[in-house]
Amino acid sequence: MTSQATPSSSDDALEARIVVLISGAGSNLQALIEATASSDFPGRIVAVGSNRPEATGLERADQAGIETFVLDHTGYSDRQSFDVDLLRKLEGYNPDLVILAGFMRILTPDFVRYFRGKLINVHPSLLPRYQGLKTHQRALDAGDSVHGASIHFVTEELDGGPVIAQAEVPVLENDTADTLGARVQAREHVLYPIIARWFCEGRIALGNDEVLFDGSPMPAILTLPADVYQ
Ligand code: GAR
Repeated sequence: MTSQATPSSSDDALEARIVVLISGAGSNLQALIEATASSDFPGRIVAVGSNRPEATGLERADQAGIETFVLDHTGYSDRQSFDVDLLRKLEGYNPDLVILAGFMRILTPDFVRYFRGKLINVHPSLLPRYQGLKTHQRALDAGDSVHGASIHFVTEELDGGPVIAQAEVPVLENDTADTLGARVQAREHVLYPIIARWFCEGRIALGNDEVLFDGSPMPAILTLPADVYQ
């Protein structure tokens, strides 16, 4: 995978520096690339990293002229040493925000603590339901009538950090994990760039153990009006 120089502008100092980490298709990355390309977006993606060299999301970054890097986790004997190298790599980009967009690695407590308040993730369920994998099938198996996605700050507890925002979708009678997952992802593609924007504007932050919105603890998890998704 080739790396390209990141474009610079005179507004650099005003823009939040974003690094996106992926492991796969990168459809959320694509939504973030398109959102941050807007001239009024208060941040820019300075690099995209993957733990899998074959992640097709890397091509999306290349096509957008964004620098990429690969740290292949299979070359590491333990989680700690991979995370140390990932941390060093990220430090080099001096990020204000690290966005996990389908980055399928469990991160070590040291790594998570280092980036506390700057690390957000999208998870395909209405947390705290269905932490971990196979979330769509689990929602179907449980007979849920509503499923969705969550954006949350990453803390040491896997999929357990304070939730910033959620998007719901109805579970339809003939849904499979694939059809349900596709509807959830469509919501993610709208919600994640909006949350990234608010973070870059300084509107969303992590407090002690709660999400702050405009400096005050959020009374409830954010949900956006339905027409935002149309
Ligand atoms: C996304 O749907 C995201 O919710 C999920 O991976 C998908 C990545 O798709 N993340 C997790 O499961 C994290 N535990 P993408 O590569 O097309 O954005």
